[in-house]
Amino acid sequence: AGGVPVEVDVPAPGELKVEFWRGKPVWILHRTDEMTASLEKVKDQMADPDSLQPFSMPLPEYCDKTTRARPDHPNVMVMISTCTHLGCIPEPRLKAGAQPSLPDDWAGGFLCPCHGSTYDLAGRVFKNKPAPQNLDVPPYMFLSDTKIVIG
Ligand code: FES
Repeated sequence: AGGVPVEVDVPAPGELKVEFWRGKPVWILHRTDEMTASLEKVKDQMADPDSLQPFSMPLPEYCDKTTRARPDHPNVMVMISTCTHLGCIPEPRLKAGAQPSLPDDWAGGFLCPCHGSTYDLAGRVFKNKPAPQNLDVPPYMFLSDTKIVIG
């Protein structure tokens, strides 16, 4: 409870932006259709694909378990961008294909520079990584197709 809600313009498809809510950095990622489709494909590589063990807040009940987004805007992802291991900020590695230090079949996501945890494009942590849990999804809602409010 508490905290001031923050209004954010949704970035263009394929783009990521950072805002702050309750003093924490939050990513707003506008996935392309292809990016969202990748989430189902990498599901069996996830430590907790359905977010049954959230980090500090449960996945909002209105979010789809796989996209971790509101079903009426499945490409718009909102997540708190602090690694659930020791709190570093992972780096965006959004594009599929050749990425230094990532698998050849990398579908896009985030890489934590501190101890190498990797997250998919919904902030779900890959198996066998030091980070124990998925990135948190804060409460959010749409004010219009291009504007959300976090909190
Ligand atoms: Fe991210 Fe350790 S803080 S892997």
